[in-house]
Amino acid sequence: MGALRLAFELLKQMNPEVCLWLSDSTWQVHRPIAEASGTEQGTYAYYDPQQGRQGFDSMLDSLRAAKPGDAVLLQASCHNPTGLDLSDDEWHELTAFCQQQKLLPIVDMAYHGLGNGLEADASGLRIMARAMPELLLCYTCSKNFGLYRDRTGMVAALVQNEALRQPLMQQWMQLATRHYFTPPAHGAMLVRRILQDEDLRTIWQRELEEIHTRLRGVREALYVALSKAVPQRNWRFLKEGQGMFALFPLSVRETEYLQQMYGVYIVSNGRVNLSGFNDTNLPTIVAHIAATVSALASGSYQEQAC
Ligand SMILES: Cc1ncc(COP(=O)(O)O)c(C=O)c1O
Repeated sequence: MGALRLAFELLKQMNPEVCLWLSDSTWQVHRPIAEASGTEQGTYAYYDPQQGRQGFDSMLDSLRAAKPGDAVLLQASCHNPTGLDLSDDEWHELTAFCQQQKLLPIVDMAYHGLGNGLEADASGLRIMARAMPELLLCYTCSKNFGLYRDRTGMVAALVQNEALRQPLMQQWMQLATRHYFTPPAHGAMLVRRILQDEDLRTIWQRELEEIHTRLRGVREALYVALSKAVPQRNWRFLKEGQGMFALFPLSVRETEYLQQMYGVYIVSNGRVNLSGFNDTNLPTIVAHIAATVSALASGSYQEQAC
């Protein structure tokens, strides 16, 4: 989060006319951070609640409205909130598009290793970094190192123009001084220790593997169970996506009903954190979702609410 703030503020300072393009939808805190940095915002097509991930062409079409020098915020993997990511082919195409349109990519990497492993999750970033003359990377270790409250992460800039390096560093130092002066060191020391010690690094990688394998299992189990229990809705996004998040095709009324009748709490836009599912609660929650969808379809919600 701190990395995003530093990236957006740098952007604004270097180019006051800049517009930052965010996916529709995106992590709900991206916009307030952009607002706080005074950066103008645009929206590019990414997800449709009825159809799932929008065609890649729609994404590029909406980005055609961006002017040269604008920035595009992209999520490296495990897109929050949809869980639906770009393929390698799409990353290649998007890279060529950004070069052509002179757009600056800002890659937000918050779930490295939780999608399909450390290598695969960095693939899009690598494709862009190899080809783009400039790129900003915002990285957090909150999730993949379990260091949520230690504010451990980084912001990095890739610049080919050597002359930009020094002023960029200076601007970031000034911005960081204004925000927190000295950053917390404890989390970063832990991460360095793990990455520099072969044994600890191996254990960490193994644990990440276990986590993303488990998440894939939850996705598969939910897909099977929900397709059977609620066949009138499309659950394919569970199989197509990766990582912790997914947007369930539930209305606000359905999320309220789930909460009131069964104590199942789902964000009103349908966002679910899949890591909360296990073998015990999964069948129960699926049954509650099925009961909710059928109760509201038959109008019994109004009766119960009266
Ligand atoms: C997409 C995305 N980017 C950035 C962050 C910020 O992470 P942190 O709180 O570790 O700074 C989050 C956290 O949920 C996120 O989902």
